[in-house]
Formats: sequence, C-alpha cells, structure tokens
Amino acid sequence: MLAYYNGEYLPLADIRISPDDRGFLFADGVYDVIRAYNGRLFRLDDHLARLSHGASQLRLAQTDFSFLAKVAQRLLTVNGLTDAATVYFQITRGCAQRGHAFPQPPPPVTIYGAARPLDEGRLREQQQRGITAITVSDNRWARCDIKTTALIANVMANQEAAENGAGEAIFIRDGALLEGSHSSVMAVLDGELRAAPLSNYILPGITRKAVLELCRELAIPVREMPVFQNEIPKLTELMVLGTTSEVTPVIALDGKPVGAGLPGAISRRLSRALRDTIERFRG
Ligand code: PDD
Repeated sequence: MLAYYNGEYLPLADIRISPDDRGFLFADGVYDVIRAYNGRLFRLDDHLARLSHGASQLRLAQTDFSFLAKVAQRLLTVNGLTDAATVYFQITRGCAQRGHAFPQPPPPVTIYGAARPLDEGRLREQQQRGITAITVSDNRWARCDIKTTALIANVMANQEAAENGAGEAIFIRDGALLEGSHSSVMAVLDGELRAAPLSNYILPGITRKAVLELCRELAIPVREMPVFQNEIPKLTELMVLGTTSEVTPVIALDGKPVGAGLPGAISRRLSRALRDTIERFRG
C-alpha cells in the first residue's frame, strides 16, 4: 500500500514520523475522512474546506489544502482502489522540541494521507437491521466543530459502547443529545426530524448537510434543535449519520427500544435517498 507523506508517495511501512511531531506529542492537528465510490470522492470539496477551516482555527502554518484533491485521487489510483474506499488525511503542526506554545519559527506542517478499501457489506447489514447505541456524558472540550485528532474522549465513549455491545455512543451535554463518537445524530419526534444546530459543540458533518438538503427536496419537516434527554422516551426514530455510516437507524438506546424498535420510515427513506444521490454520483 502506498501512502502520501509530505509530498511523496511511499510504501506505508517506510513512513517514519518523528516522536517530536506535535501530532504525536499534543494531538496538535486536524484530520478528515473522505468516502470514495467507484474511485470517485464524494463531497471532496466540503471535506477539504473543513480541513482548511480546522487548520486555520488551530493557526497552522498551512491552511490551503485544495491540492489534496489530486493527492486523494492519486492515492486511490496507485492502490487500485476502484471500488468502496476511504481516504484519510491528517495535518499536524510539524516537528519541534516539546513546548506547549507554537514553535518559532513555525516548522512545516506534517501531511499524511492514506486510502483503504471499505467493507460495504457490514454497513449495509447495519443499515438494514439498525444498530443500538448508548448515551454518555459529553466530556469533550468546547471546540468540537474542529476535527482535531485529539479524540480520546471519543475513543473512550466508543469503547464504552463496544463493551456494552452497542454500535455508537451518543454524547449528552446539558441534557442535549448532540452527536455520536464518530457520527452526527438525528431523531424523529412528533413527525419532525430533529438535528442539533451547528455550534461549537458539534462537528459540521458533511453527511448531516447532505441529508438536510435531501429533507428539503423530500419536504420532510426539520427542526434544527437537539433532542433533550427527557424527550428520549417519546422518540419514534433515531439515526446516526456520517461518511462511514451514511444514514444508519438506531433501534435501541441504553437498552430501551426507540419507537417500534425497528428501522423507522423516515430513517429508511433518508438512507435510500442518500444512497440514490450516491448512486447518481457514482455514475
Ligand atoms: N467521523 N461527528 C463526529 C464527532 C465525527 O467524528 C464524524 C465523522 C461526524 C460525521 O461527519 P461526516 O458526515 O462529515 O463524516 C460527526 C469520521 C468519519 C471519523 O472520525 O472516522
């Protein structure tokens, strides 16, 4: 497998990252995950814009990553990934002797990219059956809009889900269900689709954006307001959304069924609508 590292395409095993890299020392960097269908990268510009936004929020020395569009395409080609795949990019503040403040003068950023095949079979099965989820208290920092590699809170939450036999952990802050450990969350309550509004407490999910566009097309009523903990028993549907989850129904939360305990009509409709959009894109 060939990966991208600071301008070169190298066998993954030959890439050596310095222990002085601030990504290693401080998780001082951003990342993104892009989905490829038939060798074509879905919503690539949105992902690269989010990467640039994160890099400028962290005040990295480089913030324009439009050139990564070509890199992403090349990673798919050189690795023969003509079917389902993901492309991962990570940018860190680069290498310098350890010290919290930004190193001066700023070193070049470290840029790593890798493409890998994706098992779509498992996702399809989860979409058909639905997954279960747990709620966890949101102990992340207050800049969850930046896709930083500082994911330990997400890792701990996802591990808790795994240990409870659940597929996702949903963060609750001040009583509001905000997002999953690696997904956005939407719910159906009183016939309306509920989505937490964009804020510093959630990642501006690209699947979230695509699905909200589909809701407009399909005339599905949307309220950009989070679901609150006391509303959980009244939910008729719950779903997670993301680059690797697309739209996946959640059929039970904290061991209790959501609605009828089966993938709901709106979740299935949105899941299918997103798949249709992808099929058209896939060409
Ligand atoms: N995660 N919220 C969080 C915390 C996420 O980590 C992700 C994506 C999303 C969904 O965003 P998008 O639709 O743009 O993928 C929401 C990626 C896939 C990951 O960490 O692997």
